[in-house]
Amino acid sequence: MASKEPKHYRVVGLPGDYIGAEVYAAAVRALEVLTQGRDFRIDLDEQLIGGAAVDATGEPLPQATLDACEGADAALLGAVGGPDWDDRPAEQRPELGLLKIRAGLGLFCNLRPVVLHPALQRFSPLKPDRLVNVDVMIVRELTGGSYFGNKWRNANEAEDVCRYTRFEIERVTRAACDIAMKRDRRLTLIDKANVLETSRLWREVVRAVVDAEFPELDLEFLYVDAAAMHLLSRPGDFDVMLTENMFGDIISDEASMLCGSLGLLPSASLNERRFGLYEPIHGSAPDIAGKGIANPYAMLLSAAMMLRHSLGEDEAADALETAVHGCWEDGILSRDLDPDGPGTDEITDEVCKRLG
Ligand code: IPM
Ligand code: MG
Repeated sequence: MASKEPKHYRVVGLPGDYIGAEVYAAAVRALEVLTQGRDFRIDLDEQLIGGAAVDATGEPLPQATLDACEGADAALLGAVGGPDWDDRPAEQRPELGLLKIRAGLGLFCNLRPVVLHPALQRFSPLKPDRLVNVDVMIVRELTGGSYFGNKWRNANEAEDVCRYTRFEIERVTRAACDIAMKRDRRLTLIDKANVLETSRLWREVVRAVVDAEFPELDLEFLYVDAAAMHLLSRPGDFDVMLTENMFGDIISDEASMLCGSLGLLPSASLNERRFGLYEPIHGSAPDIAGKGIANPYAMLLSAAMMLRHSLGEDEAADALETAVHGCWEDGILSRDLDPDGPGTDEITDEVCKRLG
């Protein structure tokens, strides 16, 4: 029988700045090895974003990058930002590239899984008895709230409006509920409903969606200040945490430390058509760039999330995650965890070896 033509997926590659480009290169290598011997191919279309785009074009998100994403299945991003662009006007800051791509592609649903692997337990700052069953999915609303509300400033005053619509809350709530239904069926809404009107709207809308469409779910509400505390005192109790943009930003950095390092956590930002932007939650770390010591694990796990959520290649996603976990189990730990650990290329070699 003639062998079938492999499927081709279109992925926009966005290396970004500093270690962003270093860890991105690691993911590209792993994906190359993965596709060998499987019935799909990844056609990479590399584009500019962040400081690299500011240098080349004067803007952090060139139209060409957005256009490339429009026709693609997914995008894979390293990280953006750095001191070189600190004194630029607001419209030339690298981070704006990230905010614009999120808004431009409608990437409202940001998934940040926080799973503590047993081999890494000793790197967590928490005592072992607090670390039983740490497996939280943070679902962060990504295109609303104070990040995108009306903003202005004069010499003595400034304002960032936090605005949410019922529609925006409903769609991210449905996404979070779908995920919770496939997990432990528990959803915690993180808000500040004792103070904020937007939070009171969130509570009302989330309650209504759950009652009408997901009655099997166990829903609880938690104020964000208390949630910050409970994440440290009883992290194992949470299943899916749903929250607005700014709270999700803060809570997810806090949660990452449960796993020992910011360098370990991947993320996915999805829109209605399942297009996703996949990136590690860490930044571009200019202080360690160019030394070959960046931790590529979060980026590799982001590539695995891409395979699963946007390309539907679950078996390949499992293989990549298993390879990463295998490295951890064999003590192949990046420099942020082990000062004598291997560098980016050696870790990538080890991951590729376990894929081949
Ligand atoms: C993140 C980052 C971004 C955010 C910054 C770089 C704009 O912290 O993805 O968590 O605040 O969303
Ligand atoms: Mg953040």
